[in-house]
Amino acid sequence: MSSLKPVRGTHDLFGEEIKKHLHIVDVARKISQRFGCEEISTPIFEFTPVFSRTLGEASDIVNKEMYTFPDKGNELLTLRPEGTAGIARAFISNGMSQNVPLKFFYNGPMFRYERPQKGRQRQFHQLGIEYIGTPQNLADVELISLAYILLESLKISDFILHINSIGDKDSRSQFRQALIEYLTPYQSELSQDSQKRLTSNPLRILDSKDPKDQKIIEDAPKLVDFLNSKSQSIKDNVLNGLSRLGIPFHINSQLVRGLDYYSHCVFEFKSSQLGAQDTLLAGGRYDGLIPLMGGPEAPAVGFAAGIERLALVIPEIKSHSRPIFVIAMGESAEAPCLKLSYELRKAGYLIEMPFSGNASKRMKKASKANAQLALLMGEDEIRNNQITVKDLDNGQQDLVALNEIFNWIKKLSF
Ligand code: HAM
Repeated sequence: MSSLKPVRGTHDLFGEEIKKHLHIVDVARKISQRFGCEEISTPIFEFTPVFSRTLGEASDIVNKEMYTFPDKGNELLTLRPEGTAGIARAFISNGMSQNVPLKFFYNGPMFRYERPQKGRQRQFHQLGIEYIGTPQNLADVELISLAYILLESLKISDFILHINSIGDKDSRSQFRQALIEYLTPYQSELSQDSQKRLTSNPLRILDSKDPKDQKIIEDAPKLVDFLNSKSQSIKDNVLNGLSRLGIPFHINSQLVRGLDYYSHCVFEFKSSQLGAQDTLLAGGRYDGLIPLMGGPEAPAVGFAAGIERLALVIPEIKSHSRPIFVIAMGESAEAPCLKLSYELRKAGYLIEMPFSGNASKRMKKASKANAQLALLMGEDEIRNNQITVKDLDNGQQDLVALNEIFNWIKKLSF
């Protein structure tokens, strides 16, 4: 029955994968707290213009990837394709401008109607950081250092930070003109996507993956040559700041990012383990976004990381806590074992009590689960108000009085 399949590009999270997701969010949240970030959670859907007016009319997201629908009250809504625009909206609607600078951490599902492939889904998860009300170049450096610490803490070994400046509006519009002039004679040789972008969004042609496009782009004018002196000095400040922290980077003059709200420094952390969808984490400065939405001047910088992509490259999560197995030997032991498990769980211990199988099967389950102890109860133990405690690391077995079991376990380190 087709309706029992998950919708294309969506997936169920369970087992090792959800462990990885939770671990990634947990590590990111803790690191964000070290930088003074507060957590924010915005709605999963917003009025469509929150995205359509901010991400760029010509961007892929607005053009073809948004899940947009009228609700029953005929309001046009969109499932969020990213987190930044919603947070900017929340900043304005909650009148937060009195409290700047603000640093936010967020995570949650995002939705884009893209062609699914490795590392690319239609429902995926992002975690992100947004610094709002921070015009200083120090903020860009600090934010990138947060991303760097995050990827290192997640034990990702082979990432590379690509960085570029796309300057301010002025620098960009002069560059855009020069790029169109350079590319127009090659129009018919460009890929179909790039031909369409030539008038609508020529900067995006620079990050085309099509080999023919790439050949043509090799000799195209470079954005760096069009940066005015202010943009140039912002770029130098950020790069010098990164060098002072010892954070390695690669200046990638073709990095332009797919969203309209950026200016000045943009960056992407890429991994060589991922294939075509190789960007783990991406962001940049977006000074114009909040004013564009009708809010006050609030220069900002942020990034988001794809949790599914991080999960593809982090090592397996090892569980630190080892369970105690409570094993009932025979039906009459089930009720007292359940009571003991209940008391131990209330006291904070991780307890597994298998419901089925004979004693030896239950012991096998305990060793498979890497249990530290097994507490065994049969008719003899019930009669004598005792319990057999087996240390599964060294095999030692003791008979302990039932009313002593808590003290006995307390002495062990878990
Ligand atoms: P983005 O580059 O569109 O930027 O997405 C950020 C990250 O989300 C990507 O680098 C990737 O890891 C992940 N991602 C994007 N699309 C998918 C997908 N379809 N499937 C799986 N993962 C995906 C933004 O979203 C900006 N809001 C980042 C930002 C925050 N800029 C400033 N602040």
